Amino acid sequence: MFESNDFVCRHMQLTKADIVRVIRQKKLSSFTEIQDETDAGTICGTCVADIEEILEEELERRRSNASS
Ligand code: FES
Repeated sequence: MFESNDFVCRHMQLTKADIVRVIRQKKLSSFTEIQDETDAGTICGTCVADIEEILEEELERRRSNASS
């Protein structure tokens, strides 16, 4: 589990907070969209699974907000 200030994609210098922000602001719902916005995962790719995990958390949060 990442903390907000942890670097998730070291190559693009993206923290969890950066990724969450772009997902929320642009209402992204796929890894490809995140990649288009941030270039995350375009160098070594080791961060892809972590970003997908953060995306899942956000989608889950969005779903539960929508239903409440
Ligand atoms: S850590 Fe994200 S591309 Fe290398």
